[in-house]
Amino acid sequence: MSAMESTMQAPKHQLTMSLLMTPDMANFAGNVHGGSILKLLDQVAYACASRYAGRYVVTLSVDQVMFLEPIHVGEIVTFLASVNHTGRTSMEVGIKVVAEDIRSQLRRHVNSCFLTMVAVDDDGHPSVVPPWQPRTVEEIRRNDAARLRRELRQELAARFAATRRPSAS
Ligand SMILES: CC(C)(COP(=O)(O)OP(=O)(O)OC[C@H]1O[C@@H](n2cnc3c(N)ncnc32)[C@H](O)[C@@H]1OP(=O)(O)O)[C@@H](O)C(=O)NCCC(=O)NCCS
Repeated sequence: MSAMESTMQAPKHQLTMSLLMTPDMANFAGNVHGGSILKLLDQVAYACASRYAGRYVVTLSVDQVMFLEPIHVGEIVTFLASVNHTGRTSMEVGIKVVAEDIRSQLRRHVNSCFLTMVAVDDDGHPSVVPPWQPRTVEEIRRNDAARLRRELRQELAARFAATRRPSAS
């Protein structure tokens, strides 16, 4: 089965992308630049969410990006993305990043993060997405965790907004 066929046959809420880390992605220390990985994370989240929703999507937020270990030039990096939760117009996409050394074939979990993507119509207005129904134990666990993160994001936004309100005096 070709790589393209394997991606196309993945469940609609999941997407996998593998990429060779090339020298143009390196930082001054010779490892892969964090910014290169952030750009790829955004692209993978876009592909996963827009494919699930069948619509264009925009990135609302990126959170909990943890660079657990450096990624080296010459490694193959795989992005495992899935829609964990849907709201009315937003989707949380979780991405696990695994780096593989070509010669030793050792695989390392190097990064995980969560992006919130919002589906938009032709005018850029939020657009309703199909509700995601978790079925497996793992999907239910991810859905519960995503729901909690959504509540925490909303609480944080409300608390920061409260600090910006002009005082009465
Ligand atoms: C994303 C965007 C379309 C949302 O517009 P909006 O006017 O806030 O729309 P809504 O109030 O209807 O919110 C849309 C969704 O975003 C969520 N949302 C909006 N602001 C939020 C915030 N501060 N915190 C958490 N969620 C938020 C809402 O809960 C809603 O999700 P839901 O329908 O699943 O409940 C708008 O903010 C935008 O265009 N942002 C720029 C996106 C972009 O260009 N990204 C790339 C940057 S380079």
